[in-house]
Amino acid sequence: MEPFLDGVAKALDAVQDAGVENVRIHRGDGRDVLDRLAAASLETVYVLFPDPWPKKRHWKRRLIQADTLDQIARVLAPGGRLRVATDVASYVDWTLFLVRRHPHFAWTARRAADWRAPPADHVRTRYEKKNIGDIAPTYLDFARL
Ligand SMILES: C[S@@+](CC[C@H](N)C(=O)[O-])C[C@H]1O[C@@H](n2cnc3c(N)ncnc32)[C@H](O)[C@@H]1O
Repeated sequence: MEPFLDGVAKALDAVQDAGVENVRIHRGDGRDVLDRLAAASLETVYVLFPDPWPKKRHWKRRLIQADTLDQIARVLAPGGRLRVATDVASYVDWTLFLVRRHPHFAWTARRAADWRAPPADHVRTRYEKKNIGDIAPTYLDFARL
């Protein structure tokens, strides 16, 4: 799901180079796709290094919002996972604030290493490698209750 044509083109190149066939790409807003998926149809939703919108007056543009969490909760199967990764401190606070007050998610972290170390199934992204946030990459895993 990617609204910008350049991003879609890069993704198509990468899919072709990797020779994989189990990929679907939507040019547009990912939230529209969430609305079209069947309830409880996904095991995991990854929101990896979303646009940070660091200025407070732009926080309403962030992808993680109470409404988006409702959409994600609907499509995740019970016991499913939501992972949000970011290297922006205010985005960590923002995500924890919104997700922890959501009735259908629980933060799974038990110790600092759980959010500091990349999870075993994590694949580093292009944006993550740029290292331009204000903190180290932080991995927040939530379980769908
Ligand atoms: C900071 S980049 C990170 C890209 C990639 N996840 C990574 O870590 O390298 C954020 C991406 O999300 C895309 N994006 C922003 N809002 C979106 C939305 N509502 N639905 C789908 N993609 C969106 C942007 O166009 C951009 O390509």
